[in-house]
Amino acid sequence: MNTKKIKLDADSILKQINYHNNLYYNLDSPEISDAKYDELVSKLRVLKEKNPEILKNIDILTKIGGEPSAQFTKFTHPTRMLSLDNAMDEDDLENFEKKVFNFLGNKISNLEYSVEPKIDGISLNLIYENGHLVEGVTRGNGEVGEVVTENIKTIKEIPKKLNTKNPPNKIEIRGEVFMTRKDFNLLNKNSNTNFANPRNAAAGSLRQLDKKITASRPLKFIAHGFGIIDKNSNDTYYNTLLDFKKWGIPISPKLNILKSISEMIKFHEDIFKNRNDIPYDIDGLVYKVNNLELQTRLGFVGKSPRWAIAHKFAAETAVTEIEKIDIQVGRTGALTPVARLKPINVGGVLVANATLHNFEELEKKDIREGDRVLIERAGDVIPYIIEVIQDKNKKRKSKFKVPTNCPECNSIIIKEKDEVVIRCSGDLKCSAQEVERLKHFVSKTALDIDGLGEKQIDLFYQIKLIKSFSDIIKIKNYKNKIIDLEGWGDLSYNNVIKSIELKKNIYLSKLIYALGIRHIGEKNAKLIAGNFPSIDDFKEWLSESKREALKSKLNEIDGLGPKAVESFANYLAHKSNFDEITELLKICNVSIETINVKQTKISNKTILFTGSLNTMSRAEAKATAERMGAKVVSSISKSTDILIYGDKPGSKLSKAIELKIKTMTEDEWTTLLKES
Ligand code: IVH
Repeated sequence: MNTKKIKLDADSILKQINYHNNLYYNLDSPEISDAKYDELVSKLRVLKEKNPEILKNIDILTKIGGEPSAQFTKFTHPTRMLSLDNAMDEDDLENFEKKVFNFLGNKISNLEYSVEPKIDGISLNLIYENGHLVEGVTRGNGEVGEVVTENIKTIKEIPKKLNTKNPPNKIEIRGEVFMTRKDFNLLNKNSNTNFANPRNAAAGSLRQLDKKITASRPLKFIAHGFGIIDKNSNDTYYNTLLDFKKWGIPISPKLNILKSISEMIKFHEDIFKNRNDIPYDIDGLVYKVNNLELQTRLGFVGKSPRWAIAHKFAAETAVTEIEKIDIQVGRTGALTPVARLKPINVGGVLVANATLHNFEELEKKDIREGDRVLIERAGDVIPYIIEVIQDKNKKRKSKFKVPTNCPECNSIIIKEKDEVVIRCSGDLKCSAQEVERLKHFVSKTALDIDGLGEKQIDLFYQIKLIKSFSDIIKIKNYKNKIIDLEGWGDLSYNNVIKSIELKKNIYLSKLIYALGIRHIGEKNAKLIAGNFPSIDDFKEWLSESKREALKSKLNEIDGLGPKAVESFANYLAHKSNFDEITELLKICNVSIETINVKQTKISNKTILFTGSLNTMSRAEAKATAERMGAKVVSSISKSTDILIYGDKPGSKLSKAIELKIKTMTEDEWTTLLKES
């Protein structure tokens, strides 16, 4: 092969890889199996190995974000790397601030926020010990990331030694690795790379096995936070970042302090208007409660801190045509209309599908097949249709009919009171629901099985290899059938089996969540699982004779609503579901999550708060008690250990005295907190 042909071939494969990356990461609708994707990547690798000189600038992009890749050494972050909730407008900001005040008990005056642009790059955790850079780790899944220390040492802006005589013993400095727009364009122009945008270019350049490639890329870094910091004389985020700057760590030149929502809106408008003056891509601003003590008190919920929010920029819009409207049946039977669009580029991302949310919206906006529509894309969310572009000269197709029966199993459609969503009543009979549940079971937030995505589950289900969750766990029984399938081979098969064997070591909360029961998301699954001291205990509670008692037990859990309790109990009432959970408990290695909380006077105690507290909100009291290892319940029973009461405690206090339960005043409670 001549040089030109080799370059052309490599370029063509790279284009295909980038195209599929975009479908996979940005549009969430891959067209090829993971195995086929891997084939493309390895084809390019082989070509590059055979022609190292000609293809020396070709970059082979590996996965961005998500689970840490096996190619890199894994590293558990000393403190978890959180993500951010989004605000789109003033209402969202007010809501954020209201939650902060409510949580802190409305007693805070002069609340200040720091502000910085939200950089569209890759987050990185830098660990310095006694002022020396010892580790650089990608975010990964927030808990475990990939070690890229050698690579980041090639980034000039990251100091290997902090410029201070008195550094903290240990500090985690967090920030964003990114590329300027100019550097990105130059890179794609002058080398053989073909990255879709600066973010992908930064990710692809950072996550290289060969640090020389990283070194040749124009990467930059800006710090926007910290994890562990064992000595901090500052009491604000802002001043801590100013220290970083003195130590030689780049911080945002736009870092500032804001004192009100109106100042946030003004700052946001200014930055949005002038965003082209910032040489790198930003997709909004990040506000953080500036006072560090308040940050600690606020803590986090799920994966996001209560003390920070991202204020995103308005979405990008475009006009295209609806080719077809499909109906998707979800795992809980919800029917959602989806518009298949003539693909169009919206702000750098190719968009081919838009959600129509529900049939009421379809009706209200009078959206029909063949219509030209204005679509909007904001961040990573699925694009949606704003409105139909009316054209008087064009004859429109007739209105889309709301189905009366499930398009998959023909069962009657039901609509519950107070719900806009219509649902298929087929439940266990509906194959669409069944297959969606299987997809959920293996998905990223559930078991997260590598190499087993939606396409593969669809295929395995169609050819009747799998029907239940346990079939997936036992899939190695079908080795010969699988490796003969198109796009499969020993390698992809072995990877899937390896991943299943790993992921079947699972916490009970994850398993409950993975079942995909309506109203049982990650949070409720954790609340439920947290009430069983052992798997054997959980098994006992599942039996039919204990069903009513289980409901009462679950009803006591603070934060778990009646709909979730009902849904969980209904699920178990179907014998096939009960059998399936029993089987999963047998074939998986299920354990109870032991939360790493220090032993305190209230560890493992069941606590109930009543009356109004003066020093903190109920939410903060609950979060604090949970951090100290207690279980907080909402109703009193013999199993309650301590009742903590504020003003006007009402009947719960008399009931506690009657039941001889230990009681505590708010003063005693705050003294206990100070002692811990
Ligand atoms: S603060 C606990 N500040 O956005 C708060 N994040 O959606 C964690 N990001 O993973 C991050 N610019 O990588 C923060 N000025 C900024 C940021 C920023 C970009 C990224 C960060 C994080 C993601 C969260």
